[in-house]
Amino acid sequence: MRNKIVAANWKMNLKLSEGANLVNGILQGMPAISENCKVVIAPPYLHITQTIAQLKGIEHIFTGAQNCHSENSGAYTGEVSAAMLADAGVQYVIIGHSERREYCNEDSALLAKKVNQALAGNMHVIFCCGEPLEIRDANTQNEHVARQIEEGLFHLDAPQLKNITIAYEPIWAIGTGRVASSGQAQEIHAYIRKTIAEKYGAEAADNISILYGGSCKPSNAAELFACADVDGGLIGGAALKAEEFLGIIKAMVDS
Ligand code: PGA
Repeated sequence: MRNKIVAANWKMNLKLSEGANLVNGILQGMPAISENCKVVIAPPYLHITQTIAQLKGIEHIFTGAQNCHSENSGAYTGEVSAAMLADAGVQYVIIGHSERREYCNEDSALLAKKVNQALAGNMHVIFCCGEPLEIRDANTQNEHVARQIEEGLFHLDAPQLKNITIAYEPIWAIGTGRVASSGQAQEIHAYIRKTIAEKYGAEAADNISILYGGSCKPSNAAELFACADVDGGLIGGAALKAEEFLGIIKAMVDS
């Protein structure tokens, strides 16, 4: 049975005290969850050691980073390496989020190097893909997303792929309140799984978790997570309030 994952991407939000309160609120309300369900919290770098300390010894809930650098160390002012994150106790790294692709000009070649760095640190990668509105309107989203996956991940061998989760995030649905319909999500998630199957075989494709991201909320999570190929969510805005994030965790547990 493949893993179900709900991951919080706090983006550039929350002061340290606010982050600590949010994690406490989540821990207080956490439902009992089964072995194949996981929760990831990816705060800004500055919060990471605090979040790790708060989650220490608690099962099924892990600390993530929103990014890492493509090199191991060196003169890269302002950057943080995957090796530093791993050393601090980070277990998941989000790579290729559309905001970093767009605002930081991160291209596939760079993202492939970041994936390698994160895997070298024995961390699990949440690799993001997704199309802008004009690609969706032209109905070429499948090709667009398949290319992102091929360029970012297909250099990996099959054992490495076991440490990859894919997050499909239609850019037109991120932070916009506009959400992909469950039909749209299922269709492209199934296509992503087929793309993985063609390269790595049916078993690897069956085992990889594919998350949906883009205005996922407690009110729509159950419908999205009920789709056969949707294995959870990458959550932005709704992950900033304990009650809302817990609602999404509950939708995963019940799915
Ligand atoms: P959103 O963000 O839930 O605020 O739409 C999703 C994401 O970018 O991870």
